[in-house]
Amino acid sequence: MTDLLVKEDKIIERILSTELVRVTERAAVSSARLRGRGDEKAADQAAVDAMRRELNRLPIHGVVVIGEGERDEAPMLFIGEEVGTKTGPRVDIAVDPLEGTTLCAKDMPGSIAVMAMATGGTLLNAPDVYMDKIAIGPGYPTGVVDLDASPADNIHALAKAKGVPVGEITVVILDRPRHADLIAACRKVGASIRLLTDGDVAGVIHCSQPDETGCDLYLGSGGAPEGVLAAGALRCVGGQMQGRLILDTQAKIERAAKMGVTNPKKKYDMKEMASGDVIVCATGVTDGALLKGVQFGKNVIHTETIIYRSVTGTVRRIQAEHREFAKFKLD
Ligand code: FBP
Repeated sequence: MTDLLVKEDKIIERILSTELVRVTERAAVSSARLRGRGDEKAADQAAVDAMRRELNRLPIHGVVVIGEGERDEAPMLFIGEEVGTKTGPRVDIAVDPLEGTTLCAKDMPGSIAVMAMATGGTLLNAPDVYMDKIAIGPGYPTGVVDLDASPADNIHALAKAKGVPVGEITVVILDRPRHADLIAACRKVGASIRLLTDGDVAGVIHCSQPDETGCDLYLGSGGAPEGVLAAGALRCVGGQMQGRLILDTQAKIERAAKMGVTNPKKKYDMKEMASGDVIVCATGVTDGALLKGVQFGKNVIHTETIIYRSVTGTVRRIQAEHREFAKFKLD
């Protein structure tokens, strides 16, 4: 690639970073209209439709690597689907149009519309299985925590690196029966635990801003696609994350192999999950610690979006007031 092309790519990428805001805003507004209706599927479908429509307006040649599922099970935003006008740069696209479908359906805090765009071929093509995850925010020595260390060792190491007693470390964990032992182990050490009902992309991201969110360490298993999205966001702010796919049946091993996973036990670090330049963008659907949810006023719709860019480590928050109701009614 010539210098000029590299430069042009960067310029396109810079312009695109703000364009992505529109994509997650539309998805968030569409699903927010269905908040509290008890219908996860309808809310998710509204977000998917809006996100796909907006993605197809972008001047990119995008390939969905993290999407709504494999081609035979997802009619839209399936893995491998090409999106965009196909005139711009080749990019990987990872989407979770409505992360926390149950939270939205019950109008509970923490659901977001989220996507990542990265240099083509640089996002881990993760199958829709669970992933064991560990994550911390920026400012710690590399390797201070490790997926294969015990919860107690990780909490002690992190407390030492932060210069606080273990009682001042807060661990974020999805509230699931499968995490009972993990929760007990963290409590035994004396750490505080913030239990999430759902939504571990935001859960991991919370650990990137411990001063604001009070969260230091993410532990436990959640969706692998969500893991890749979170890794992308953490890469932008310099945190650390490791993940390992949970491939506990032959069928899952084969599915993962089809997506290029040759070692089913591999421990991925953040840079292996998101190895190239990446932009991650999320808009709040319901209110949460990370983002405010969509607010519908009489004449205006308010949204809040956060956008992370790895090239510069810039994090922007965009509070938007939307008045083009005609367009939004189409969503
Ligand atoms: P959905 O948005 O698909 O409902 O996922 C919500 C979520 O909480 C994710 O954030 C998380 O990774 C996953 O579900 C955990 O799965 P499970 O609910 O099976 O423990």
